[in-house]
Amino acid sequence: MTQKTRSWKRILSVLTSAACFGGNGASASSASPTTPFTEGTIPFPYHGETFHTYYKVFGDIQNRAHTPLVVLHGGPGLTHDYMIPISDLAHTANIPVVFYDQLGNGRSTHLREKPADFWSVELFMDELSNLLNHFSIQDSFHLLGHSWGGELGTEFEVQRKPKGLKKLVISDTPASSALWGQSLAQLMQTMPQDVQDGLMVGLADPQKYWAALQVFSAVYGCTLKHLPAAYNASFLAIFGPHGDTTVASAPFSNDWTIVDRIPQITVPTLLLNGHRDMAQDFVMEPFFKGIPDVKWTTFMNSTHTPFWEERARYMEVVGDYLKKTD
Ligand SMILES: *[C@@H]1O[C@H](CO)[C@@H](O)[C@H](O)[C@H]1NC(C)=O
Ligand SMILES: *[C@@H]1O[C@H](CO)[C@@H](O)[C@H](O)[C@H]1NC(C)=O
Repeated sequence: MTQKTRSWKRILSVLTSAACFGGNGASASSASPTTPFTEGTIPFPYHGETFHTYYKVFGDIQNRAHTPLVVLHGGPGLTHDYMIPISDLAHTANIPVVFYDQLGNGRSTHLREKPADFWSVELFMDELSNLLNHFSIQDSFHLLGHSWGGELGTEFEVQRKPKGLKKLVISDTPASSALWGQSLAQLMQTMPQDVQDGLMVGLADPQKYWAALQVFSAVYGCTLKHLPAAYNASFLAIFGPHGDTTVASAPFSNDWTIVDRIPQITVPTLLLNGHRDMAQDFVMEPFFKGIPDVKWTTFMNSTHTPFWEERARYMEVVGDYLKKTD
């Protein structure tokens, strides 16, 4: 990664101590069993219809010591399940953590019959606003978006200028679909031809794509030897026997870019990625160069899911960042 040799004001944390490498061993479980959570669904009125958003909250939002964190999962079209390690922050940092399944998959309303153009960034921003209002946290909250979730988080900041947004964490997210495509195309070259073919097929043939994606992901997506059930759950929600590919195959984010609008991200922002991430450094660099108040940490033994691969260290970095001057 040649970008690392350039002299940007990047704060690169080289995380190499064995103690930091929490993700690959016994701690690769799902949520901490000791942290209480509540779950349910929120009615989401949208253009004359009412849908439901599933949520799961760790920690106590009502009697909180710290600003709550809302987690935006990736995809588009995955579910919150694979992000569940972030719930550690509820006990390691006493930060309430709100997960939800974005509309169209998981335990939120499925809408297989909707036309492709029903799905939009605006829809998912409206769903997020509705969720913030439901929990009465619209006046004070943090956002952490992973991959596509980071795109949603940056759009929310730029387009809605939410007064209550205190800090934004952009994890493993490209600044545009074009950069993302470039990054994946590069990494694909390291794969056997049949895997490349499978990746090119995409959701036109979900089973072929899934088979290839698993091989690719084992190198650049999540390098845990034993993939946890919570991680698998989000992918089975798309590729499993009852999987729903509706949102994942909707085209709304295909030509997405925020590159020209990045200076409008005025909230303090933490960038995170892995050293061998699908979101290579060059896809995140526009954020680093354009956001006025920004820090960047790269997890040296991680790929696209450092919250699994270097779990304890990830929580330390995010917890410290969110609590500073909180
Ligand atoms: C990080 O990965 C390198 C290369 O695989 C390995 O040598 C090193 O021990 C790892 N560090 C930790 C803390 O596990
Ligand atoms: C998750 O899926 C992988 C195959 O992709 C499998 O090897 C692994 O055992 C699964 N994990 C669990 C906990 O079921």
